[in-house]
Amino acid sequence: MIDIDILRKQIRKSFSKKRAEHIFGCEKTAALLAAKYGGDKYTVRLCALLHDITKEKNHEEQLKLCKEYGIILDNAELYVPELIHAVTGAHVALHIYGVGLREFDAIRYHTTGRANMTMLEKIIYISDSIEPERSYDGVDDIRKAAMKDLDEAMRLALDRSILFLIKKKKIIHTDTIGARNYLYEKCL
Ligand SMILES: [Fe+2]
Ligand SMILES: [Fe+2]
Repeated sequence: MIDIDILRKQIRKSFSKKRAEHIFGCEKTAALLAAKYGGDKYTVRLCALLHDITKEKNHEEQLKLCKEYGIILDNAELYVPELIHAVTGAHVALHIYGVGLREFDAIRYHTTGRANMTMLEKIIYISDSIEPERSYDGVDDIRKAAMKDLDEAMRLALDRSILFLIKKKKIIHTDTIGARNYLYEKCL
């Protein structure tokens, strides 16, 4: 078992203040959501603390990690470098911190989402989107929804993310479309 207090100290030491605050905010939010929706508090805290573990590495370092762990990036990841940290982060969590596959997937899909997400994956995705440091149009609606219905919060967060990417004329990962369609199909 990883000592959460030691991990927090490592994060405080090795990350910028802004990133560390985001990570700790995400941890708190994830613990709250776990209490509400029945997730294991240790597991959600661990995933939240590790979700951006490679976020401050530059592109060259990201590609070095991909080579080290035999990661083959898909087209969207090649064109959108911001997506790579979720993949490398999951591998670092697995190989360096020894997390299991459930935790691996929660970190792996925290940026794109995917169809048929587990409760843990949704909690990490939403915590990343609504932690207290986040401020963007619509964040309060997602925060409110997260306290009532996690799937509704996911629908709002995915819609907002897709609209943002369209406005910026950026590539949308097919996993994000898959996540959104899966959750909307559940409403039909
Ligand atoms: Fe991230
Ligand atoms: Fe994050």
